[in-house]
Amino acid sequence: MLQRLRALFGKASVKPLQMLDTDNIPQHIAIIMDGNGRWAKSRGLPRMAGHHSGMKAVKRITMAADRLGVKYLTLYAFSTENWKRPKAEVEFLMKLPQEFLASELKDLMEKRVQIRMMGYKGDLPDHTLKAVEDAIAKTANNDGIVLTFALNYGSRKEMIEAVRSIGQDVQDGKLSPGQIEESHMQQYLLTADVPDPDLLIRTSGELRLSNFMLWQLAYSEMWFTDVYWPEFTEEHFNEAVREYQRRARRYGGL
Ligand code: FPP
Repeated sequence: MLQRLRALFGKASVKPLQMLDTDNIPQHIAIIMDGNGRWAKSRGLPRMAGHHSGMKAVKRITMAADRLGVKYLTLYAFSTENWKRPKAEVEFLMKLPQEFLASELKDLMEKRVQIRMMGYKGDLPDHTLKAVEDAIAKTANNDGIVLTFALNYGSRKEMIEAVRSIGQDVQDGKLSPGQIEESHMQQYLLTADVPDPDLLIRTSGELRLSNFMLWQLAYSEMWFTDVYWPEFTEEHFNEAVREYQRRARRYGGL
């Protein structure tokens, strides 16, 4: 379809953004940014070069999401399982937030981006945590897109923590087991004040959730692409939103 329109009108006149329904932009988009290592390998580069290039894609896609009017963008930057990677790679990944924020915070402030973190702070190196907390504090009053880094995040851990808190409420006599509702779970998840993602994107051709937002993605639309994260562009992002707009969300109804 896009090709046919391009043939009819010429490449420059068919901008993907113009073909999107601005009244139906997903409020919350979550992304599993995968394929940094394979992208690097395919170019004969070390894996770290892939992660570094992936960091550039974070900026590009944040700006693209902001242009579309997306309210929440949640990016899976480091999972609770990623500690199993070689020490040098973990150390490199843990330096990316501070490098990213040192170079991009000014632009993000101008766009009124609010930075948040979703994950377990306790295991993060001090330098990583400091950079992230500093950015969270500086952007706390911004009223633009909410950019959440899932950092040392794992959905099963998140759910176990929520169940523990509910168990504590039961033990304290605040709740009986029969009264437990979805809303109790929701309020104890790390996303308590954030709507569930409308759209999940995963790059690099892998078709799995990898312990990412398992509760919150229950009714999300999913869009997968073979493109590796470092080469994921605004056009790819808009293509995902266009596909989202073609789908009818029924939430289990008819
Ligand atoms: C998965 O690709 C990617 C990661 C584990 C890291 C993602 C991190 C970034 C994109 C940069 C984050 C930037 C900031 C600012 C926090 P992979 O390494 O598993 O790729 P592979 O499957 O091809 O090996």
